Amino acid sequence: MAVLRQWIATAPPGARLPSTRALVAEHGVSPVTVQKALRTLGAQGMVESRPGVGTFVRTVRVPRAHDHGWQTAALGAPPLRGPRLSTALRTTSNDVIALHSGYPDRELLPERLVRAAFTRAARSDAAVSRPPAAGLPELQAWFAGELGAAGPVGVAPPSPSDVIVVPGSQSGLSTAFRALVGAGRPLVVESPTYWGAILAAGQAGVQLVPVPSGPHGPDPDELARAFARSGARAFYAQPSFSNPTGAHWSPTLADAVLDVVRQHGAFLIEDDWAHDFGITADPVPIAARDDSGHVVYLRSLTKSMSPAVRIAAVIARGPARERLLAAAQAESMYVSTLLQAAAYDVVTQPGWRTHVTGLRQQLAARRDLMVRALAEHVPTASLDAVPAGGLNLWLRLPDGTDVLALARGCESAGVVVAPGDEWFPAEPTGAYVRLNYAGPDPGSFPEAARIIGETLETLEMASRRRLSD
Ligand SMILES: Cc1ncc(COP(=O)(O)O)c(C=O)c1O
Repeated sequence: MAVLRQWIATAPPGARLPSTRALVAEHGVSPVTVQKALRTLGAQGMVESRPGVGTFVRTVRVPRAHDHGWQTAALGAPPLRGPRLSTALRTTSNDVIALHSGYPDRELLPERLVRAAFTRAARSDAAVSRPPAAGLPELQAWFAGELGAAGPVGVAPPSPSDVIVVPGSQSGLSTAFRALVGAGRPLVVESPTYWGAILAAGQAGVQLVPVPSGPHGPDPDELARAFARSGARAFYAQPSFSNPTGAHWSPTLADAVLDVVRQHGAFLIEDDWAHDFGITADPVPIAARDDSGHVVYLRSLTKSMSPAVRIAAVIARGPARERLLAAAQAESMYVSTLLQAAAYDVVTQPGWRTHVTGLRQQLAARRDLMVRALAEHVPTASLDAVPAGGLNLWLRLPDGTDVLALARGCESAGVVVAPGDEWFPAEPTGAYVRLNYAGPDPGSFPEAARIIGETLETLEMASRRRLSD
């Protein structure tokens, strides 16, 4: 069923589904199971069957969306952008369904491990000592080992001294943009991309050079053109389960991007924020395939361990590592020993692996529940893809939808969504909202989807009335 849903989500409206016989052969299930799945999808309005002809992706469900994404690269980011506070960080009252935040629910965290680690750390020297500036050596070694383990034979793994421990990858991004790019200089970014990276780059005075990036990542030729045109020497990207699109790059694309970056003598600033949030795919960091210093890698524990343990790592080689360390020291000097000791304690417990595996299953169930609820209650919206990992869905609304009006309408009915505009470094190329399936109670998903669907319908009716007046 999940496989079919994924197929439908990426297929054009009107596409014909493989025959029952083909599905039986491909997935090793019985014809009864296939028929049952097709009936359920039909009842949810995702497919329609034409007797004697076949089953088709419903055409009314996904109105053809225009794609003006190429203009993002042609126009670039507008020169003046004031700092914006993000919707994703807004605190809300307990009586709303909060789909806007970027964090997982507490029940998805290893709470027992974290509490025990803090108790132990508080009793140890960590409570009263200063760590080395780049981080506790054992934690540096753990981060280096995690990345090294993902690398192919023949690529030298990073050494512990390549690791700089930072207070969250947000801080790592600010540090990287200041240290490796600098005020007034260009930085290539995907569009859409993480709002916090846009904010950090703005604060560092960096000039953004957007390249369009869809559910499968950016086009390497477009990236090469952006480097050549702008003279940029760095590209910030999220190859695994991008926030917001959920895009997960194929190994071929990863290699192609790495080639482009090397050809332009540039850095890839790889934000592996969702390393612990793979659902149907495993993240394979590009940094693990590079020992030539072109990839600067960020890995965070704040979302998979606890938002109170603000620990992340920046891994870089060569002079870049020295510049990054100097910039990190200028900003925060060092990271609390207590937090580092607690983080190291948690990741070295046997329960940590169990936690990460369990997380995968819980995220899968939550994601599928929200996809189903949206298909049923918001039939005119669509997903460019069901993400293979991460915490969010990137829901495309019909062209012309006033996203801010939708967000306001939803909020007055008790559902908070994040307007997609905040993830675009230039003008948005479509009407999107980002919905977090990892934070709110999954029992509220059908109600939340119903409210989004009704609010959208009310807006569409009002706009039709205006047109006919
Ligand atoms: C893509 C991405 N990068 C970095 C961060 C910052 O994470 P943290 O500072 O919690 O490590 C976030 C948080 O939402 C994110 O989504």
